[in-house]
Amino acid sequence: MKAKADIEERIRDAARAIAGARWLTAFSGAGISVESGIPPFRGENGVWEKYDPEILDLDFFRAHPERSWPAIREMFTSFLGTEGRTPVRPNRAHEVLAQWEKEGLLQCVITQNIDGLHAAAGNRKLVEFHGHCRTMTCLDCGRQIPLNGETVRDAVPRCSCGGLFKPDFVFFGEGIPPHAMEEAERAAARTDCMVLVGTSGVVYPAAAMPVLAKRNGATIIEVNPVPSDYTGRITDIFLPMKAGEAFARLAEAVAAESAGD
Ligand code: APR
Repeated sequence: MKAKADIEERIRDAARAIAGARWLTAFSGAGISVESGIPPFRGENGVWEKYDPEILDLDFFRAHPERSWPAIREMFTSFLGTEGRTPVRPNRAHEVLAQWEKEGLLQCVITQNIDGLHAAAGNRKLVEFHGHCRTMTCLDCGRQIPLNGETVRDAVPRCSCGGLFKPDFVFFGEGIPPHAMEEAERAAARTDCMVLVGTSGVVYPAAAMPVLAKRNGATIIEVNPVPSDYTGRITDIFLPMKAGEAFARLAEAVAAESAGD
């Protein structure tokens, strides 16, 4: 069947580019965590179909924390560790990326995600472009405390100084952490092969990283069941697949490539 042979050939081409990369990177979005049970923001079952993105706008949050916090709790409860929910776990795609870092093949993961699943899988060379939700910081005095089921128990978590606690992930209207921006730009400038997984590529400046890599001559491999903003523009090898299956197949093909099969 043409489609099957085509996919096989694309996986072989992608594995060759990955195994032969001098400085391999990955760029992940919410789609890599869908098979871990976390809904994406856009597309099928997208979070933004249920919530208004303004709840994650910084000015709105300051003015209406009593409206933002309940939605944040609901949206992210699966990995805030709040009671009543089994914490989510990395899936095969996260595990393969962690394995490739351990083998010295993968140099950096730039993730837009705040679910912590790349770190849980074992990746350490990790750029959390949109921050994380391990802690929250007081907008008045800057005090930082862990963010967990206990500390977000109150409807609107407040600091002992009376200030508002804000989770340490990036809100709309908020700048990208400077160290994350620098590290991501450095990786995008240096990479000769970037694997994009599970991202619609519509939120900047994160979405500019693959474009920067492409401009610097990198081969772009993309894993997404449906075409994204990148597919017809910068993607060299498009794998129209879910992340879990794609990375399971890539892991096999890269191992075979590296063994010289
Ligand atoms: N495997 C791979 N990709 C998948 C899967 C899957 N199983 N399921 C869905 N996808 C794809 C969708 O087709 C979509 O292109 O993942 C992508 C998810 O896109 P978004 O929900 O827009 O996620 P992302 O690109 O990470 O969003 C960027 O937007 O709301 C902000 O800050 C938030 O970091 C987020 C940013």
